[in-house]
Amino acid sequence: MQVTGKVVVVTGGANGIGKALCEAFHKAGAAKVVVADMDAANARAVAAMVDGAAFKCDVAQEKDVSHVIEETERQFGPIALFCSNAGIGGGFDPMSVNAGGASDEPWQRSWAIHVMAHVYAARHLIPRMKARGGGYFLNTISAAGLLSQVGSPAYSTTKHAAVGFAENLAISHKADNIRVSILCPQGVDTNMLRSIPKGPQSGDGDLTPEQVAKDVLAGLEQETFLILPHPQVLGYMRKKTENYDRWIGGMAKIQAKMREEFGK
Ligand SMILES: NC(=O)c1ccc[n+]([C@@H]2O[C@H](COP(=O)([O-])OP(=O)(O)OC[C@H]3O[C@@H](n4cnc5c(N)ncnc54)[C@H](O)[C@@H]3O)[C@@H](O)[C@H]2O)c1
Repeated sequence: MQVTGKVVVVTGGANGIGKALCEAFHKAGAAKVVVADMDAANARAVAAMVDGAAFKCDVAQEKDVSHVIEETERQFGPIALFCSNAGIGGGFDPMSVNAGGASDEPWQRSWAIHVMAHVYAARHLIPRMKARGGGYFLNTISAAGLLSQVGSPAYSTTKHAAVGFAENLAISHKADNIRVSILCPQGVDTNMLRSIPKGPQSGDGDLTPEQVAKDVLAGLEQETFLILPHPQVLGYMRKKTENYDRWIGGMAKIQAKMREEFGK
């Protein structure tokens, strides 16, 4: 798809990758870029930069997601591209003695933001998109959804679930002319990455959010399901599926090395 002349919504658009997406869509000639974020002040600042509109919203709340969709369409017209990009880090602990040890609260929060927010967007937009003959979902996930991030069980697990939902969305609605892309970078230089210590996610170099946004525009143009700003990820996926046990062994070695470094 081309975003020129289209109405686009970006959740988590107030900062980082989402902000760069908003800027790139505006430069590419989107008719209206809607910035939906919990961070209302930065959402308004980004919206002002891209001649767009801002909504304060918590994507973990279905009523907030449906409100953004309804109001955007009422004010600006049909949403051609909905980007579920909001995400949270947290819970990174390579020293953890139990992968299931964290309390329910951070697990549920990750589940709500990384998975249910994508479900809510589909729940409220699919009927509208079907009625008008198509649409596009871009879901920002992570290489952690394909490969796991050492030391982050809740992040990795919910990002894997997000890949599962996106696959289902793409399969179920291909015939409805609804397309889906998943954005799965490794390290991107944003507040989220800066909030955790350097780790394997930066092993192939951190990209700027602007570079990632460029890759997204190219991926949307080609309508590919997988958008991998770090091309190395495809090679890692191949290695994982070729020999799952060897891959688990390699990841366990990385975890052991991290424990050693963090324990110093
Ligand atoms: N930075 C990385 O290295 C990296 C790598 C792979 C994937 N990702 C993913 O990219 C996406 C964007 O992350 P980022 O790196 O730009 O982080 P960021 O912290 O810079 O931006 C995240 C944005 O999401 C918003 N947000 C968080 N929870 C929200 C909620 N419940 N409702 C609405 N908005 C909410 C925040 O306010 C913020 O504006 C996330 O899904 C993240 O998991 C990031």
